[in-house]
Amino acid sequence: MTRASVVGAGMTTFGVHESTLAELFATAALDAYDDAGVGPDDVDAFYFGNAMGGQTENDTHLAPKLASEVGIAGVPAQRFEDACATSATAFKNAVQAVEAGIHDTVLVGGVERCTPETGLGTGEMTRIFASASHRQYEQPTGLTFPGVFALLTKRHMHEYGTTEEQLAHVAVKNHANGQRNPRAHFGRELTVEDVLESPVVADPFHLMDCCPFSDGASALVVTSDERADSYDDPVDVTGVGHATDIVPLSAKPVPHATQAARDAAAGAYEQADVTADAMDFAEVHDCFTGAEVMASEAIGFFEDGEGGPAAAEGRSALDGDRPINPSGGLKAKGHPIGATGAAQIVELTEQLRGDAGDRQVEGAERAVAHNLGGDAGTTVVSVVEVRS
Ligand code: COA
Repeated sequence: MTRASVVGAGMTTFGVHESTLAELFATAALDAYDDAGVGPDDVDAFYFGNAMGGQTENDTHLAPKLASEVGIAGVPAQRFEDACATSATAFKNAVQAVEAGIHDTVLVGGVERCTPETGLGTGEMTRIFASASHRQYEQPTGLTFPGVFALLTKRHMHEYGTTEEQLAHVAVKNHANGQRNPRAHFGRELTVEDVLESPVVADPFHLMDCCPFSDGASALVVTSDERADSYDDPVDVTGVGHATDIVPLSAKPVPHATQAARDAAAGAYEQADVTADAMDFAEVHDCFTGAEVMASEAIGFFEDGEGGPAAAEGRSALDGDRPINPSGGLKAKGHPIGATGAAQIVELTEQLRGDAGDRQVEGAERAVAHNLGGDAGTTVVSVVEVRS
C-alpha cells in the first residue's frame, strides 16, 4: 500500500503577530517548500485549516485566497474546520488522499490569529471560541473552554485523586521545554508555586494552567513514500486515527476518559501496527494542564489515574521515560487554533530528523501526535516514524 511521507515542514513563531492571515500562512508555506526543496509547481492539492477567520476577521473562503498567495492557484484547495483539531483533520485528509493515489504532493497546514492584534480582546475571543461548544445546552449556560476543561479535570480529580500540584508540574515542564524552542510563545521559566499562586481562571485552573491566545501558522509538504525517496530526510506517516465523541459534555458516559482520543489512538496504532509502548515521545493537546494528563492516559502513555503522578515524578519531562510535549506544547509554544495540529507534525518531523536542537528527544525514531477539538468532540491521533 502507498504510504504518505512528510518531506517539508515549516512554521512561523507562535505568539503575537501584526501580520495578516495570508502573510502568516505564506511564511509557513514558503518555509515548508524550502525545507522540502519544492516549488509551487510541484504541489497538486491544498488541504488547509482555519477555524475562526469568519468570526474574528470577516475572512472566509480562505483556501483559494491562500492558494493564490503561495503560488498554487488552480489546484483543488479546501478549508477544514474542526475547532482546535482543524489542521489535524486537514492533515488526515491529505494523508489519505496521497495513500489513495488521488494526489501526488499536497500542501497541508493552518493559520489563526487569536491575539488582540485582531482587534478583539480576551472576552470577545473567549465568546468566539465557545462557539465550538453545544449551541443549545452549553453556550446559554455561559460555559467557556477554560470551564469545559475544568469540568473534565475536576471529574478526573474526583475519580483518581489527581491534584492541583500535579497539574502545575505539567505547566512547569512545558514551560521548561518551551524555553528551548525558539518558536514558542512563552520563554518564561515557571515554578510550581508560580502556577499555584497565579489567579484562578476556572477552578482548578490558574492562569498558568492555561494555554494562551496565539497567532501563528504551520505548513507541511506531504507526498507518497515512493516519491519521498528522492527527498532529503523524509519521515513516514504510518498511522492516522480520527474519532468523534458525544457533544455536549453532559451526555458523555465517562467524560474524563476523552473517548474520541482513545478511539483515534487505537485506530492510529492499529494502522501503524504498533503499541503506545513503541512511541519515543508524544505531542499532545495540552490546552489546559488537565487536558495533558487526560491525553497522556488516553494515548496509552500512562495507566488511567497515573497521568498526574507521572507528571509530578518527571516521567513526561524531556529526560523522562515518556517525554510529552518537547515543543512546549500548547501551554508554552502557544495555540493558534487552526495551526496547532499541523504544528505538532512539524515538531514530530524535526525531532525524528534529529533537528530539534536543545529540546531534542535523544534517539527518537517513532512518535505520536494527539490533537483534540472542541469539548473533546473530535480527536486526531497520528503516528510518524523515521524511515527504516
Ligand atoms: N500562560 C502564561 N502566561 C499567560 C497566559 C498563559 N496562558 N495568558 C496570559 N499570560 C500572561 C501574559 O503574557 C501577561 O503577562 P504580563 O503581564 O507579564 O505581560 C499576563 O499573563 C496577563 O495576560 P492577559 O492577556 O491580560 O491575560 P488574560 O486574563 O486576558 O487571559 C487567559 C488569560 C488564561 C484567560 C487566556 O489566555 C485564555 O483564555 N486562555 C485559554 C484559551 C483557550 O481557551 N483556548 C482554547 C483551548 S481548547
